[in-house]
Amino acid sequence: MSTYENYHQTSQVYDKTRSAGGVKIIRSALAESKLPLEKQILVDAGCGTGLFAAAMVNHVQRVEAVDLNSGMLAKAQEKMLSEEKSGRINFHQSTIDALPLPDESVDAVMTNQVLHHLPDDESSGWPKHYKVFQEFSRVLKPGGSLIINSCSHQQLEHGFWFYRFIPKALRAVKEKHVDLDMLSELLQRSGFTNTHHKVPLEVVMQGEALFNAEGPLDPDWRSGDSIWSLVSDEDLPGVLQYIKTLGDSGKLEAFMQQHDKPRASIGQITFTIARKQLSA
Ligand SMILES: C[S@@+](CC[C@H](N)C(=O)[O-])C[C@H]1O[C@@H](n2cnc3c(N)ncnc32)[C@H](O)[C@@H]1O
Repeated sequence: MSTYENYHQTSQVYDKTRSAGGVKIIRSALAESKLPLEKQILVDAGCGTGLFAAAMVNHVQRVEAVDLNSGMLAKAQEKMLSEEKSGRINFHQSTIDALPLPDESVDAVMTNQVLHHLPDDESSGWPKHYKVFQEFSRVLKPGGSLIINSCSHQQLEHGFWFYRFIPKALRAVKEKHVDLDMLSELLQRSGFTNTHHKVPLEVVMQGEALFNAEGPLDPDWRSGDSIWSLVSDEDLPGVLQYIKTLGDSGKLEAFMQQHDKPRASIGQITFTIARKQLSA
């Protein structure tokens, strides 16, 4: 379960500022497998409100959608009632480190913006990540695909203009994100191979909502990014006041433009693609 975000509340507004950005990369990574895409069984680990599952469900044979939070799962289910009825998707309320699926039963696993919610950290060697990767390896068939959608430390630092307002939360969120080199190492230790990264520079996680300079003043807008849960109740009023002051003096838009510039060359998200080894 996320150790810092209240996903019951978030489920009500999550889709206002989120979309399945980069899904084409997932489709093409799966299409590289010997088995045709339409015959593949895909796990969506931490499916949330089902944005990515909905973008994949009509391209694969079946999706197994897993999330710990009943509120998020209910939203996903609402989106895909007919697909559930026709057996193209199953929903499971479960943690991703103990998937309710048999050994070597699926062709692919995707996990989008989930891993940083694991209660883990660098000083302990990321044991929860390791456990999750071993679980993905257990359910995947040999040669199966794993696609991880996450943010690199550089992307966290420079891909989200509004993180400039909340430096303490940014430091905390970076500590929750395993950086790409360590991610590759953990995957190798968990029996994955051919690990590589793809960055869709054009993808903006929040869509057009990112360019609403006054967005951070709106609680629903803030709900679209769990970083705001790391801003203390004590600090939040001061942050919001600072943003209002910038707005009142006509400088907010320029602040956003300036701090959004690096995003064009580094992007916001990275897809890490790996295959389960064919034999141990
Ligand atoms: C930022 S949301 C991402 C949702 C979705 N994958 C997307 O990209 O739109 C993170 C999701 O991970 C789920 N989650 C966090 N830790 C989990 C765990 N250990 N097992 C299952 N789900 C988990 C949360 O409940 C939440 O729905």
